[in-house]
Amino acid sequence: MSRKYLIAGNWKMNKTATEAADLVQEINSLAGSQTSVQVCICPSFTALSKSSELVEESEVFLGAQDMSPEPSGAFTGEVSAEMLRDLYVTFVILGHSERRQYFNETNEVINRKILAAIQNNLKPIFCIGETLDERESGSTLEVVRTQVREGLAGYPSSAIENLVLAYEPVWAIGTGKTATDEMAQEVHADIRKVLKEMFGDSAGDSVRILYGGSMKPENADGLLSQPDVDGGLIGGASLTSRAFCGIVDAAGRACA
Ligand code: PGA
Repeated sequence: MSRKYLIAGNWKMNKTATEAADLVQEINSLAGSQTSVQVCICPSFTALSKSSELVEESEVFLGAQDMSPEPSGAFTGEVSAEMLRDLYVTFVILGHSERRQYFNETNEVINRKILAAIQNNLKPIFCIGETLDERESGSTLEVVRTQVREGLAGYPSSAIENLVLAYEPVWAIGTGKTATDEMAQEVHADIRKVLKEMFGDSAGDSVRILYGGSMKPENADGLLSQPDVDGGLIGGASLTSRAFCGIVDAAGRACA
């Protein structure tokens, strides 16, 4: 089963719409015409509209960083799936550890968001991962398995091709500490096992599982060469075109 590599940039709360436009143009010129690796950028909501216009003619896909589980109505400050679709957004990051940690998102809320995304033809990039305490107490696999099972409860098999997972050990996010290649592969293989239990072997084999947590050009080759690592969700290193496209190049080497 061949899975196309996906390199997604999570810009978090960085870049005004004006600054985003510059970065999008740089990424377009460095990686916007190649098709061997799928590339996605996830700017803040305020930069989506401008970015959407700028990626229209390129192979770069657009993603959002979060989304409301509700379709519309009196939910001040929220952004719906339909609003994202209207801006030609393809992917949406859901369940990021920063949303879980600072905005109290539970597996149940994340599950509702994932189902709402699928109903609107958005592709969730569903994030899971253990904290340092959980890793040190030996419960990594148990924590991640529960996140996967609860986050994907009721997920329709018919939409499996829209699903992307991102394994992001919380202790590796923005810290400069990266999981070793072997640590990443161990968890990715275990996630795939859970997906196969839930959706069957061939569906489980088809889902892309990204690694996230201090991925950069210097460590991307090793991580991306692991059999169950199908790309990266990149934070810090996605904020400069050189580092981000360096990781896209590493994915190109891994699939060559
Ligand atoms: P990082 O962030 O690459 O800065 O560690 C990854 C993420 O949070 O998605």
